[in-house]
Amino acid sequence: MNKRVLVTGGAGYIGSHTTVELIKAGYEVIVVDNLSNSDRAVMKGIEQITGISPRFIEADCCDREAMRRIFEEHDFQSVIHFAAFKAVGESVAEPLKYYRNNLVSLLNVVELMVEYKRRNIVFSSSATVYGDADTLPVTELTPRKPATSPYGNTKQMSEDVLRDTAAACDGFASIALRYFNPIGAHPSALIGELPRGVPNNLVPYITQTAAGIRERLSIFGDDYPTADGSCLRDYIDIVDLARAHVVAIERMIEHRNQKRYEVFNVGTGKPVSVFELVHCFEEANNLKLNYAVAPRRAGDVTAVWADTTLANNTLGWHAERELADTLRAAWQWEKSVRGIE
Ligand code: NAD
Ligand code: WQD
Repeated sequence: MNKRVLVTGGAGYIGSHTTVELIKAGYEVIVVDNLSNSDRAVMKGIEQITGISPRFIEADCCDREAMRRIFEEHDFQSVIHFAAFKAVGESVAEPLKYYRNNLVSLLNVVELMVEYKRRNIVFSSSATVYGDADTLPVTELTPRKPATSPYGNTKQMSEDVLRDTAAACDGFASIALRYFNPIGAHPSALIGELPRGVPNNLVPYITQTAAGIRERLSIFGDDYPTADGSCLRDYIDIVDLARAHVVAIERMIEHRNQKRYEVFNVGTGKPVSVFELVHCFEEANNLKLNYAVAPRRAGDVTAVWADTTLANNTLGWHAERELADTLRAAWQWEKSVRGIE
């Protein structure tokens, strides 16, 4: 069995945690990253946690010749493709940057996989493909809504590229994992999320507010048709999410995915409101957060959470960590980055 995996975007938030879980499960990992949204120091954190230093190649997945060299020189059978830009708002302002990076990088990887006969790819998709769903929770059969951002569109188009390639090429298989809201950090506090500038996402904004870097958290809307008026999301612990990639790779290596293109929701199945999350963070870490209600944020859907039955039954994967533990890990990580005792 070939237990070598190429992890594109492996120095990033989800990629670094997945690299750790792959190494723990006995895989040999080759990380490719252009460091456009990450720091090389992350590789040190991975080594400190696992005792193993995975091979790191600084390269851009959009650079076809650089990628070809990697395929020439390494005989991995599986790829996990994280490399992409992910800021929804920025993608609206700069659509071509997103279409180029997210689509060209995927096309290069998939074309080279077909050419070099590398069979398996796990792709980072997103709950954003469901948009403002008509029924909740969403299952994998819930229709995708037309994308409301170029970023979301790249995820839909990428899923289609993988589906159509699997249908046409016998020696090619893929699993698209639709992540809900990944949060938290490795419990060692040696790796975690490193947003650049002002965070767009809720949990990094909370931890930076607690650390005194941001003055106050704005809660975007308390007049939604939910029990407490704030939006509902499905917050998935980063280590649980990382483990889902390992079981997806295992499934493909063992050829248990007869259909050769599969999609799985990766969430907890539990809706959590913004107020609930803030209060859980305060209780778990025994501190008070400065926050205030602000107007709704453009583009937010009221609620989205996963039906995870398919991942539970088919992958044998379950979200395990409690929200309070995840929020403790998020705070430990922020403190370690800022040097707070
Ligand atoms: P991240 O920005 O931390 O990681 C992405 C990594 O890819 C970075 O290290 C970046 O330097 C690298 N990269 C980007 N373009 C590249 C290129 N052309 N060549 C080589 N490396 C490149 O983001 P993340 O949160 O870890 O997200 C990973 C994947 O998961 C992305 O595809 C993202 O769209 C998807 N996703 C993320 C979330 C989320 O909330 N974090 C949710 C759903 C899906
Ligand atoms: C969560 C909730 C906000 C910040 C995004 C992408 C999605 C996926 C995951 C990539 C919402 C509220 C937030 C703040 C707040 N990424 N909020 N104050 O928007 O659910 O999903 O990340 O695929 O595509 O859109 O996540 O963390 O930004 O927001 O009140 O300062 O927190 O309104 O209800 P979101 P988020």
